[in-house]
Order: sequence, then structure tokens, then C-alpha cells
Amino acid sequence: MTTFRDVPLSDPGDASDATPAAGRVDAPTLELTWTDPVTGVRGYLVVDRFFRGLASGGFRVREGLDLAEVAGLARAMTRKEALAYDPTDRYVPLGGAKGGLDLDPSAPEVEDVLVRFFGAIRPLLERSWATGEDLGIRQETLDAAAKRVGLASTIEAVFARLEDPEAARVRLRRAFAVEVDGIALADLVGGFGVAEAALALAERDGRAAAGMTAVVQGFGSIGGATARFLHRAGVRVVGVADRAGLLVAEDGLDVDALLAIRDATGCIDREALPPGVREQPGSAWLGLEVDVLVPAALSYVIDETNVRLAHAPWIVEGANLPVTPSAEAALAERGVRVLPDFLANLATNAWWWWVVFGDLPPTADAAFARISARMRALTAAVAEDAEQAGVTLRAAALARADANAARLEERFANGPVD
Ligand SMILES: NC(=O)c1ccc[n+]([C@@H]2O[C@H](COP(=O)([O-])OP(=O)(O)OC[C@H]3O[C@@H](n4cnc5c(N)ncnc54)[C@H](O)[C@@H]3O)[C@@H](O)[C@H]2O)c1
Repeated sequence: MTTFRDVPLSDPGDASDATPAAGRVDAPTLELTWTDPVTGVRGYLVVDRFFRGLASGGFRVREGLDLAEVAGLARAMTRKEALAYDPTDRYVPLGGAKGGLDLDPSAPEVEDVLVRFFGAIRPLLERSWATGEDLGIRQETLDAAAKRVGLASTIEAVFARLEDPEAARVRLRRAFAVEVDGIALADLVGGFGVAEAALALAERDGRAAAGMTAVVQGFGSIGGATARFLHRAGVRVVGVADRAGLLVAEDGLDVDALLAIRDATGCIDREALPPGVREQPGSAWLGLEVDVLVPAALSYVIDETNVRLAHAPWIVEGANLPVTPSAEAALAERGVRVLPDFLANLATNAWWWWVVFGDLPPTADAAFARISARMRALTAAVAEDAEQAGVTLRAAALARADANAARLEERFANGPVD
């Protein structure tokens, strides 16, 4: 019997991505809505596009999630993948995708619903879509669900394309076992990249980390690590927000102390706050007078209703889609520069693939060195492009991502798929 893995790589499923960039249809290649037959919960998968028959993008669990949000996130993934493209890497970017459940992440049935969703779309997960943790879910839960549907991981589609998948599995396992000060490396790389991008942007404008101030919304994988590495670099982090509200200290928060009292969902224990930390409503984060605002929790948190509150010269998008287009237009008019999500937070995704494809050994030092170099180079190049062309950072980053996507199309249009 033919299994999905037996299908030759040059089958028609892979031909879709040979479409020339110039003639591409701009709609997502695949939009899928699933309804759980047991609970009625909706699950979504959007593949914005495939490169070489593969797409990559995380999985989120959030009450209120809908297909449009997932499609926007999938599009951002295409850009994130393409922007990271370097023809000298072994890692060849994948198309963008995203999946998710419209469900409260703390609901006890999350894993069971996920198992049913993964079961329903198993062929795609096995062969075409590689996923990992995003908002509201941990990689362990995704791994457990994948195992329950008979898959060894959530990135089997990519392993199936590698010459030595066993070596890649070992590298990834080792990389995921690395901890730095008790925090998994996997939970640090993304926020480290956000912090490096923020620092590179500010340094380009002649600002040193010492003397700079920042506020970070979200204190999970991305927000917690962004705050940690900004703090380590000498930036005064005067506010961090989690789902319970905002914590403020004008002299700078002791970020390491807050990380030590953070739970697995990224919430800080209010009973154990260090002295001098004040509690404020979560919505106050945007109005703090700081140099760098880092939204690193939810999508669409800066919109036309609250954009007037933001005064920082730089907004660095740690979260996906945190600034709505109309809010960004208003910010651009006031000279506030927004470093877009598909650049600022690309490090988690790139780190996974660098490890899997064999560009990186599974160590923290190697990860931080490569992420720092890539994030700083990309941020500087995009800022330079933006200045030269007189456009926003987003427009400049988008142009680079599109140019890279076209290069990828060209490189693999007629040649071998691997
Ligand atoms: N985890 C990754 O590797 C990764 C990579 C790229 C982008 N992202 C994006 O970054 C964002 C955060 O992801 P994460 O993995 O850090 O999530 P997470 O679940 O680890 O943490 C989310 C954090 O946001 C906080 N939060 C929730 N609701 C809030 C609210 N209303 N106000 C303020 N804070 C609130 C939570 O308390 C928690 O601290 C998402 O947009 C995600 O798509 C994540």
C-alpha cells in the first residue's frame, strides 16, 4: 500500500510551488476549518503557500481565534521564513502556515481536542505541514498529541525530506534539552532575537542600551526572554504586563526575580513580588513613557482606539500581528517606527530549522551567536533600505521577504526538490 511517505517528492503535490512568483495568486493555498465532533470547538489550518511542498508555522490555542486571524499569521510566516533565507545555509525556507484552536488554553480538554484535530488532518501533518508551539500551548502538549496520532514529532514533514533524519532528530532533542539558568533554550531564542533586533535598531540611531527604557507586554516565552535580554544588555525595563495586569518600577524591574516567580503560563505570582514593584491595570502598558515598546502577548493590541497613547520612538513586534494597519499608519505619521513581527520574532523559527538542517550545533552559545549576528544584520539592512526608499520598516522588510521568496521560487522551479 502506498503511504504518504512513499509518494515521490516530485509528485504533483510539489508542483504547486513551481508557480512563478510574478503570476502568483495572492490567496492562501489552503484554508481549513474543522469542527470537533465531541465539543464543537473549531480548529483551523491555513497554508499561505508551499515551498517545495512544505509549509511551516506554529499552533496557537486562544478563545476567539478565527480563520482570518490564522490566515494573517500564516501570511506572516511566509514572510518570516523568506526573510531568513540565506543561500549559504543548509536550511531552505518553507512556505508559511498556521494552525490553532478556538479554545481557552487553560481548558482541561485541550490535549484531547488537539488529538482529534491532528487525527483529522494527519496526512498534512505527516507530509506537508511542520508546526510548533505558539501562543497558549506548550511544545510538550503538541508533542504528546502528535504521538497519540502515531507521529514521532510535529515536524515529521521536514524530517522526511532530510538525508539523515535520525541525526537531525538527535540534534533537535539535544537542543531542546539545553537550559540556561533553568529556562529552556527553546523558550529563550525567540525573545533573544527580539531584544537583539530592538538593540540594533536603537544603536543605529545612536542610542546605547544603557540609558534606554522599555516596556514589554507579555511575559511568556517571547516576552519573558525579551525582557530578560534587554535587561541583561543594560536597558531599564520599567514595565512588564501579563494577563493579570501591569507591573511597574520606574528605576527598572528586577527581571530575573520576576522570571523566578513566573508560572508555566507566563503569569507572575503577585504574592511574591519584589519590593518597589507597583501593580497597574494591564491597559496602562501602552502609555508608559519609554524608548521601546514591545508587544509580546496577543495580536491586534495596538489599534485605532488606543494608538494615541503610544509615544515611544520604536515599537518592536515580539507578538504576531500586534499592531493593526490603521494604527501603524497613525504611528508612521508621528514618526514612530514599527519593526514588524516577521522580522523581529523570526529567531525561534529560524533556530529550529538551523538545528534541524544542521547549520547549528545544539548549544546555547552557538544559538545566541548566530541569532545575534543574523538579527542585527537583517535589522540594519532593513532599516537602511527603509531610509533609502523613504518607506516604513514594514514596507522595506516586506520587499526583502518578497525578493527572497522570488529567489526561492527561481532556485527550485525546475530543479530537485531537496
Ligand atoms: N513562542 C514562540 O516561539 C513565538 C515565536 C514567534 C512569535 N510568537 C508570538 O509571540 C506572542 C506570545 O507568544 P508566547 O509563545 O510568548 O506565548 P506564551 O503563552 O508563552 O505567553 C503569553 C504571555 O502573554 C500574557 N498575556 C495573555 N493575555 C494578556 C493580556 N491581555 N495582556 C497582557 N499580557 C497577556 C500571558 O500572561 C503570558 O505572559 C504570540 O503572538 C505568538 O504568536 C511566539
